[in-house]
Amino acid sequence: MPAGGFSASSGMDFEAKITPMVITSCVTAATGGLMFGYDIGISGGVTAMEDFQREFFPTVLRKRRENKGSNYCRYNNQVLQLFTSSLYLAGLVSTLFASYTTRRLGRRATMRIAGGFFIVGVVFNGAARNLGMLIVGRILLGCGVGFANQAIPLFLSEVAPTTIRGGLNTLFQLNITIGILFASLVNYGTNNIHPWGWRLSLSLAGFPAMLLTLGALFMVDTPNSLIERGHLVEGKVVLKKIRGTNNVESEFNEIVEASRIAHDVKHPFCSLLQRRNRPLLTITVMLQMFQQLTGINAIMFYAPVLLTTLGFKTEASLYTTVITGAVNVLSTLVSMYTVDRVGRRMLLLDASMQMFLSLVAMAVVMRTKVTDRSDVIDHNWAIMVVIIICNFVSSFSWSWGPLGWLIPSETFPLETRSAGQSICVCTNLLFTFVIAQVFLSMLCHLKSFIFVFFSVCVAIMSLFVLFFLPETKNIPIEKMVERVWKQHWFWKRFMNEGCNNHAISGEGTPSTVSLYS
Ligand code: BGC
Repeated sequence: MPAGGFSASSGMDFEAKITPMVITSCVTAATGGLMFGYDIGISGGVTAMEDFQREFFPTVLRKRRENKGSNYCRYNNQVLQLFTSSLYLAGLVSTLFASYTTRRLGRRATMRIAGGFFIVGVVFNGAARNLGMLIVGRILLGCGVGFANQAIPLFLSEVAPTTIRGGLNTLFQLNITIGILFASLVNYGTNNIHPWGWRLSLSLAGFPAMLLTLGALFMVDTPNSLIERGHLVEGKVVLKKIRGTNNVESEFNEIVEASRIAHDVKHPFCSLLQRRNRPLLTITVMLQMFQQLTGINAIMFYAPVLLTTLGFKTEASLYTTVITGAVNVLSTLVSMYTVDRVGRRMLLLDASMQMFLSLVAMAVVMRTKVTDRSDVIDHNWAIMVVIIICNFVSSFSWSWGPLGWLIPSETFPLETRSAGQSICVCTNLLFTFVIAQVFLSMLCHLKSFIFVFFSVCVAIMSLFVLFFLPETKNIPIEKMVERVWKQHWFWKRFMNEGCNNHAISGEGTPSTVSLYS
């Protein structure tokens, strides 16, 4: 250990085994992703169910039965969209509070709060007698998502040994995709249960909610959080247990030092706005905004609705959603394997090209094969549509899906990590909300051109990646400023000004370990 007590060396030097405790903690925490995914995947199928529409949205059902007006506008109902989008609005507000609880009460406590919100939300939704109960349930679930998405990626990054941090971080996205798939399988089954199949769909969210809540009761908090909150002895004991070794002194000291810097930062959100933090903030906001502007959630939320618009029968549209859900899960595994080998930029650029072509193809098929009034789509064209959607979903799943969460989490230093993660979740949920709220109206007005809109967004984001996103593959977090940001042709101008960069570079920081131990 250097005299300073704080090693600026890479975190890769720390001794760590892959212990059962790390695996069980990460698997348990990642079940929060399952809950997020289930919420994303369930609403599209439920809103397409006739029993559900009869109970809460009779005008939508009437319009659908009368078959009047354009196919593209059958589901254009602001309140129907609010059912889906209210969850994300609640989530984006609650994540700002979650930033506080994550810092002050810990990651584990924040997950427990999330679990509590989920369970109450599920009860409201499953038992809903009117639209009010339904929306209140969605808002409570949204609060759960806000708290869970804030705490879980941080928990995973802090508990995982450095060498497998990328893989374990993608575990969160993997759980999101499993949740989406599980939801579409549930919808496929409950669609034939009348008249309360939709209740079962909404109530089964209780399963992932219980998993997270029970898990959070038994798991340990991260050493970083324990130490940051002054529990040094407990923090060291936990660190030894999760690393499977008594040789944790250097990692322990590094966390203590990072906590000291974090304590000096009284207003993490203001600190984020400082010039030297702007590149990190910009990349986080842009990645999350672009992730949503790919149009992925137009598919995830509204695939059943979109496919019935295209002329698929309700059942066909539901099992197509199951197929795309499976593609989503499998492609995420590809990402887990390749992300540390080929790098982030390569995956993002390659996938953007594939997504651009899929979106243009989708626009062409809709323009030429779906008329405003036809009610069926030719079998061969139906298969073509499914292939295009699968191609789009798979390229998203091994790129923008996991990397939208991974890159921000490997960029922020401890003192702004919690606030940075909050901005990351907030931006994600803000744009998820916007897409959920306006997609059906956009479909009604833009018709097939909606996919041209998304393809233009994908082209712009490819250029952004090409020019502004630095490669962060295999760079230790502590070296990020020196080896990435200070070398980048554009961002270096933000890094070289001011002399207070030690807080984010990890350099030149005096040790205060002695103050704590
Ligand atoms: C996104 C979600 C999306 C999901 C699809 C996540 O990374 O944040 O909005 O629905 O991926 O798998």
